[in-house]
Amino acid sequence: GFYVGTAVAGGGHHLEQDYPDPFTYDREYRRILANQFSSVSPENQMKWEFIHPEQDQYNFEAADAIVDFAERHRQVVRGHTLLWHSQNPEWLEQGDFTDEELRAILRDHITTVVGRYAGRIQQWDVANEIFNEQGQLRTQDNIWIRELGPGIVADAFRWAHQADPEALLFFNDYGVESDNAKSDAYYALTQDLMAQGVPVHGFSVQAHLSTRYGFPGDLEQNLRRFDELGLETAVTELDVRMDLPESGVPTDAQLRQQADYYQRALDACLAVEDCNSFTIWGFTDKYSWVPVFFEGQGSATIMTEDFDRKPAFFALQSAL
Ligand code: XIL
Repeated sequence: GFYVGTAVAGGGHHLEQDYPDPFTYDREYRRILANQFSSVSPENQMKWEFIHPEQDQYNFEAADAIVDFAERHRQVVRGHTLLWHSQNPEWLEQGDFTDEELRAILRDHITTVVGRYAGRIQQWDVANEIFNEQGQLRTQDNIWIRELGPGIVADAFRWAHQADPEALLFFNDYGVESDNAKSDAYYALTQDLMAQGVPVHGFSVQAHLSTRYGFPGDLEQNLRRFDELGLETAVTELDVRMDLPESGVPTDAQLRQQADYYQRALDACLAVEDCNSFTIWGFTDKYSWVPVFFEGQGSATIMTEDFDRKPAFFALQSAL
């Protein structure tokens, strides 16, 4: 009943020039993916820009391949994601639609994508990163909330639930590992939606951690307050980045500190009753998004670029 997952690399902005699709072309990568994990999350392949590149065109190839792979290896899948301010296709962001048309576009997208994989997705990140650091809804950069108002979030959950009544439907965000303004906003919103009977089932923390900022020591306590609302909780995108020395190679002390963060994140989830899904955002530095998105930082995953196991790998293994 406890799932240990990883993101499946592919379709990332940081990968396009450097690698052919790792999921398709890297045998060693696939072997480890199949052997070590019981859950998989498409890192990009179910995002709007990837799965719905033109208004009248869906691209299911990569997502289908991941879901098929997961089933062949008796893994579950976390779907990611349906309502987000980022990685939307140009036709959507630049399009000139009436409110009514936009609403229909979102409803059709959710119905089509969730419906296609109905019964095969354990958890869906329905709404991703809808609050800013101050705990305010992203009324400027999130096209859905900006154009259609906050009520669209509840509708997204309702449509997803209609399309797949078995899937557990989540709010997912970064920077909500601790009890803070942003996680408080989710706490209030999920309570409110649940009271209205909206099918919200989970709250998940991405956990893109950095040794620069320290470990969120109240992670367990924060997950627990959502657990006590009757929600599932999950860790969905854990990685632990660090400032790399000149050589580019982390020191032993850095790797030990990283292992400690991974282990504490896992322990926090294990300690909370309905935290049943624990996912790392890629298992090898070879394809990690971190060096491209965070300058000077890297080595964020549990294996090196050559798939050598770091202390973090063994720390997770021994904690399970
Ligand atoms: C990142 C991917 O890892 C990259 O490949 C992509 O280019 C950009 O997005 N929060 C999320 C994830 O919810 O979807 C993001 O994934 C990382 C931050």
